[in-house]
Order: sequence, then structure tokens, then C-alpha cells
Amino acid sequence: MCGIVGYTGGRNIKEILIEGLKRLEYRGYDSAGMAFVENQEIRLFKKKGKVIGLESKILKETIVSRAGIAHTRWATHGEPTDINSHPHTDESKTIAVVHNGIIENYRELKKYLIDKGHVFVSETDTEVLPHLFEEFYQGDLREAVWKGLKLVEGAYGICVIHKDHPELIVGARKGSPLILGIGEKENFLVSDASAIVSYTRNVVFLEDGDMAVITPDSFKTYEMDNQNEIDKKIEEISWDIENIEKSGFDHFMLKEIYEQPATIRDSFRGRIILNENKVKLGGIQLAAAEIRDLERINFIACGTSWHASIFGKYLIENLVKTISTSEYASEFRYREPVVLKNDLFFTVSQSGETADTLAAIKLIHEKGGKVFGITNVVGSSIARATDGGVYTHAGIEVGVASTKAFTAQLTVILLISVLFARTKNTIREEEAKAIIDALVLLPETIEKYLKNINQIKDIAEKYKDSKHALYLGRGLNFPIALEGALKLKEISYIHAEGYPAAEMKHGPIALIDDNMPCFVIATKDSIYEKVISNIKEIKARKGKVIAIASEGDREIKELVDDLIFVPVSHLVVQPILNTIPLQLIAYYIASAKGLDVDKPRNLAKSVTVE
Ligand code: F6R
Repeated sequence: MCGIVGYTGGRNIKEILIEGLKRLEYRGYDSAGMAFVENQEIRLFKKKGKVIGLESKILKETIVSRAGIAHTRWATHGEPTDINSHPHTDESKTIAVVHNGIIENYRELKKYLIDKGHVFVSETDTEVLPHLFEEFYQGDLREAVWKGLKLVEGAYGICVIHKDHPELIVGARKGSPLILGIGEKENFLVSDASAIVSYTRNVVFLEDGDMAVITPDSFKTYEMDNQNEIDKKIEEISWDIENIEKSGFDHFMLKEIYEQPATIRDSFRGRIILNENKVKLGGIQLAAAEIRDLERINFIACGTSWHASIFGKYLIENLVKTISTSEYASEFRYREPVVLKNDLFFTVSQSGETADTLAAIKLIHEKGGKVFGITNVVGSSIARATDGGVYTHAGIEVGVASTKAFTAQLTVILLISVLFARTKNTIREEEAKAIIDALVLLPETIEKYLKNINQIKDIAEKYKDSKHALYLGRGLNFPIALEGALKLKEISYIHAEGYPAAEMKHGPIALIDDNMPCFVIATKDSIYEKVISNIKEIKARKGKVIAIASEGDREIKELVDDLIFVPVSHLVVQPILNTIPLQLIAYYIASAKGLDVDKPRNLAKSVTVE
């Protein structure tokens, strides 16, 4: 959700913090702010709206400081206003805090502090923190933060500065990510490594319950429980600045759509043994007997990743012949789910920080279950909380609407399914070969496909003023229809719904009239004829049908209003390919409407609050 940057060192601090905020803006963009320690004062700047607004506000300010903190906000408590923006301070402006997360007991803490004479100005939960730390401050900022946090319930990643400590930042994390970046005579505390990749690649991933204290010349980490100093492993970030630049594309989303040939290749690279038609996944440490004994394979996720989970459920039952489920993490964590001895769970997450998914992992562990992660961000909380798993290797995804991470998730799920199916002998070797061959060919096929998409731009232009849209698909293409609808609604604000095509007549068909575009995935498979019947039902009610069909399909041409041909692939690989035109439709509709594709309203890239 929110993005945090803290810097201590000798460079131009204003520029470092603004650049960091711009890199983190995809995490939240309601408002932004920063605070610096200068001449025993806290200087504070806040601005409602995107980072660019804050940047122009401070353009002419000269700032001479060696410690500063900054924040880009996704509002939870209190509207996006200048006052509610972070950093927050106590009333005498001795301490400033930026915070990502939610303080659940902030009402009680606020009352306690008001009774002690503190004066509050914002509607946020965060504002209790600087007041609380001020209450405990007796010359040692780390101690004050530690004592204050002992009273706090909820989730936080925080950075704290004090007017009397010109080079010091204290950080702490519980439930929200915080990374320590180590430089030469400078150090950083950030919620996401993309904020610092231009300055350093050496990082320490703080864990829940860790505190960090940085100055330009030192960094120390402590356990919050006992205040003991601890040594933590310094890791190296493997990606670099090009990964977070637009590289000539108008938007990150389009760049990321075009990266898919490479990212899909990266997600299966080194994981296929071609001459044996097998898959190997180092992160899935299960003996063959354990795989054979599995009674249920369950996928848990949110949003786009949940769509990938449904693909997983269908595919596991199809190829592995094991019962499979797919569930929203937010539902799972608040039910009383039954975890069987021979259950296996997979959580699917791009960011690896989604609060509900993390809570689901905790619950599975409490119930004695085993859970693997299918995660994109290396070293993320989910990657560390799970018992193993598979990285999707899609690279950093900046566009808020997930694209390349989704197709990488589908690819990894396909690999897992083939691995299990081969282990259980539920598919023949020739079948595995056909799937693997199609997967290996997929990047090249997508590459060619992406070279000529003018027809998609025309279709986007034609339907851009629609108020509603339906997305229909069946079987493995049902989750792809859901994903198509989600892409359209989140970036173009057109109301869109995804359905299994046959469900249409149980309700949604009432919506169909000559203004309703229906995107129907109708590539050739075992239920193709059924989908054709569904298309006829729509046409009988004057709906507009845009079909995603197999190249060379002549029959369908006569039935539909617009046709998007996709190359033919293996049945279980085809849905990955079918995803691409739907991503492009959403992208071109939103950009034709002049919308901010990479930062759609109300959304944030990483949902670290429940
Ligand atoms: C939509 C989108 C979201 C995420 C969801 C889960 O384009 O990106 O629906 O898929 O918030 O996030 P992760 O995958 O990071 O757990």
C-alpha cells in the first residue's frame, strides 16, 4: 500500500526522497509528504495528490539535512488531504513518523494520549505514533520507539526521526515490509527496494519484530522482543534500474504486456528437463510418495492472483486427478477451514506482501498444514513465511494492473501440474511432451502476436464508450474471462463482469442489449461447440460479440461482430495466450479514454492492509 523512504547521508536529500517516492508511487498515490531534521527542527512538507504535486511544492526550498523520511499514501483512516498525509508529528514537532499499515487500537491510544494533554490534528491512526514516542522519549529515540510500540496493536512498517538527532532514523516492522539499504556513508530504510536501486544493491530484509537504527556510517538491527542487537544477512538485489524504467513505452502496463515473451521464458527457464519431458522445481521439496498421497491441493490468493488460482484448480483436477480448491485469502482466513493431514496449500501472490494471503498462511500453519508460495517478489514476506515454493521470475511489475505477473503465475502453475502429474503418472509421457513443447514455443508465439495488434486498437476504439461489458469463457478459459473483466474495470472504470459462458442464462443475460459488448473466449477445445451456442444466445438478444478465436476458424466469423484471432496452442497452454488480447483491449480502451493507466484511482499495487 503506502510507500516509505528514509535516507541518512550526505547527498541531496530532497532529490533522493523525491526519486524514491516516484519509484514507490505505484504503491499508493493519494498524497505524499516528507520531513527532514535541520538545525534542531523538523521541517515538514505535505501535499494531497501525486508525488509531482509535492515535488513542485518543495522545488524552491533549500534543504540542508542528513536525515529525512518520506511517504506516499493510500488512505485507510481519513480522506486524502494535506493534513492526513504523512509524515505525522507530535504537537511540538519534535518527532516525525511515516507509517505503512494500520494501528488497530489507535482509538484507545489516542484517548490515553489526549488525557495526557496531547493535541491531535488529523483523522489518521498513524498520528498516535509520534505522540506516543514523544511520551516515552528521554534522550534515546530507539528506546522511545520500542516502548511506544509495545502498546501498539496492528501492522506497521515505520520510519521515525527526531529533531535532536540530525543523522538518525529508527525503523520497525510488524506486518508491513521494511528493507534496510546499505550504501557508502549513507543508509536507507524503504518499504520496497525499487526506491533505492539506483544507489545500492545491498539490502537487509527486516522481519516482523525487527527494529533498525541507521546513521550515514552505521546500521544496526534489533529484536523488538528483547532489544538484543542481531546480525542479519546482507542480500543483493538482482535486478537493476532498467527494470523500473518505461523504456520508451507510454505506460508501464504496456511495457509489461510486451515483456511477456521474456517473462514467461524466465518463469520456465531451467525448470524443464526436455529430453525426459519432466519438470523440476527446486522449491517444491516433496517426495514422490508425498505427492502421490496428497488428498487435496488448495490455492489461496486475492485479485488477479486468485484468477491464476482458479486456473490452478482446473488444471490440477484435469492433469493430476487430485481434488483441488481455489479460494480468496480474505474468506479463508475468517472461516473455520478444515486442514487435512494430506492437504497441500499454494498461496499465489505477485507482491508477496498481501495482508490477507499472509494471514491465510499463518492460519494454515496454526492448523498444522503445509503451504508453498507462488510468489514474484524475491525475499518478500510471503516467500519467507511459506514452507518453500516457486518464484515466478516475472521481474518487478510497476503497472498497478497486473499483467506479466499473471501469465508468469499461470506458467508456474502449469509447471507444478505437470510435475505432479508425471510423479503420479496421471498423464502419459507423450502428453507431457506435447504440453512442454507448447510451453517452450509460447514466448516466440506471443512475440509474433504482439507485432501486429492494430486490429485490437480498432476494437478498443469502437467499444471505449461502453458503460458495461461481459467477459465469458469456459473451463480453463473461465479464469481468463474473469481476469479480462478485472483488467477492464480497474483501469478504464467500465463496469465489467466475468462469467462462465453457460452461467449467462442464469441471470446476466438480462443485461444484454445492443449496447452490451460481450468478449467471448472461443478458442477450439472440447467445449467449443457449447461456447458457440452461448454466442448464438447473445446474438439472439442483439448483444455485440467480440470473440477471441483460434486462427483459421472460419465458422465463427459469420456469427460475431468482431473477431480477434490468436495462434493455436496446446489446450492447457492456450489460456495463457488468450490472456494477451484481453490485456491489450483493457489497455487501449483506458488509454483512448485518456486515463492514468499505471495509477488507476483508488488502487494500490501491494495491498498490505486487510
Ligand atoms: C489486479 C491486481 C490485484 C492483485 C491483488 C493481489 O490487477 O493486481 O488484484 O492481484 O491485489 O496481489 P498479490 O498478487 O500481490 O498478492
